[in-house]
Amino acid sequence: MRQVVFAHFLTRLPGDAIIEFDICGEDGRAVYHNDSITINSRGHLVFGGCDTVELARTYKTPLYVMDEVAIRRAARHLRSALEDVYPDAEVIYASKAFCTVAMCRLVDEEGLSLDVSSGGELYTALVAGFPPEKIYFHGNNKSPEEIEMGLKAGIGRFMVDNLFELELINQLAGRLKKKADIILRITPGVEAHTHDYIRTGQIDSKFGIGITGGQAQRAVEKALAMDNVELRGFHCHIGSQIQEIEPYVLSAGIMMDFISDVRESTGFTASELDLGGGIGIRYVESDARMDLPSLFAAISKTIADKAERHGIPLPRLLIEPGRYIVGEAGITLYTVGAVKDIPGVRTYVAVDGGMADNPRVALYRAQYEAVVANKANLRPTAVVSIAGKACESGDMLIWDIELPRVEPGDIIAVLSTGAYTYSMASNYNRFPRPACVFVSEGEAYCVVERETYEDIIAKDRLPGAIGQARPSAAAL
Ligand SMILES: Cc1ncc(COP(=O)(O)O)c(C=O)c1O
Repeated sequence: MRQVVFAHFLTRLPGDAIIEFDICGEDGRAVYHNDSITINSRGHLVFGGCDTVELARTYKTPLYVMDEVAIRRAARHLRSALEDVYPDAEVIYASKAFCTVAMCRLVDEEGLSLDVSSGGELYTALVAGFPPEKIYFHGNNKSPEEIEMGLKAGIGRFMVDNLFELELINQLAGRLKKKADIILRITPGVEAHTHDYIRTGQIDSKFGIGITGGQAQRAVEKALAMDNVELRGFHCHIGSQIQEIEPYVLSAGIMMDFISDVRESTGFTASELDLGGGIGIRYVESDARMDLPSLFAAISKTIADKAERHGIPLPRLLIEPGRYIVGEAGITLYTVGAVKDIPGVRTYVAVDGGMADNPRVALYRAQYEAVVANKANLRPTAVVSIAGKACESGDMLIWDIELPRVEPGDIIAVLSTGAYTYSMASNYNRFPRPACVFVSEGEAYCVVERETYEDIIAKDRLPGAIGQARPSAAAL
């Protein structure tokens, strides 16, 4: 059972006097969930300086809300913490976590590079005017059309996942009379301590080329012999929501050993090492936030030690965080509908969204905290479970959370939903996808409009006999 406990919040009394006070949990500890959150004098949850109840009223629910200041803060913290210990480094935002035109602009403004993993993400970045040379193109099964799109746009790097793709990129680059800069994705065989389904670093993975068995070595030889690709270095990604430093240190060491082995056997010296993303964030109180300076110091030391031991130059170091940049910078607002009490069993609080706008709970059994946004200053009184409105029993947002009394019409804010929610959203049950607003120091602006029912049927067609037999969409 989890409970969000707000500490030391400010309340403005009539006459504008401000009082400060703490609310402590039963164990005496008290914490804010994160820096974007406060509570105002109406007892409403404030996110990025905006009253979330007002946001829900203005933009309707479900609603994704992202704090622009928090996104920028995370991006800057990553850059400075990395560059402090490893000057020749680059932070690449993994856009799969949250990708919109506005987000791509913001990433560019913060001086980060961009990881895209599909034609759609690449298209979004290009429309946003993102510098193509700072785009890294991932994906384990890029189509010829996607590869051509990247080649024509002049993207920075293709992150090559397998031998088939290596051949394809070489072929297509040749046809277009281009040379593609590539990085080979390697599976170092390191397991990050996280849920099975989001581990991608093991040998048994659909991603990357394994070091053991010599496959990676053979891929290097192949790449070096090709006319239309230029091998720059190696990449690995060992998992997601990683809360420990050790797996990163382990994979950095393995990758440096691999760079040295390749240099010995082929004479090729990798100039770039990309250690992927996966840096953990705080979803629930028990999650440890990664200490970035310690993480980067440990990685940097491993790389330096290995470089010295093997007598190889230090590679340019790349990292690809996604959720670290947007995860805690986002919340989702919902309106409560039915509250169903099954005496002695459970109280289900049904909201107007769920797995269609946030499939992470159903997919990964992800855990979240929540606040009743219009009763944020009230103490919890009961344990409830927050259910979605999709026709799936697994459509739950939170099991067993302590909240104040919840009634129909209340606004629920689910916290730390900035990553892999909007980007994973679907139209299941033909729910229109929610709007997304950015907030910044009390200002709110829409970056993605809410879908309409017209949007839902926009690509439907009534061909031939079916079209004759039933009323047309226009007549509905
Ligand atoms: C290759 C690669 N890089 C980066 C990321 C970003 O991971 P995270 O958002 O956990 O930092 C992922 C996530 O799946 C990935 O597959």
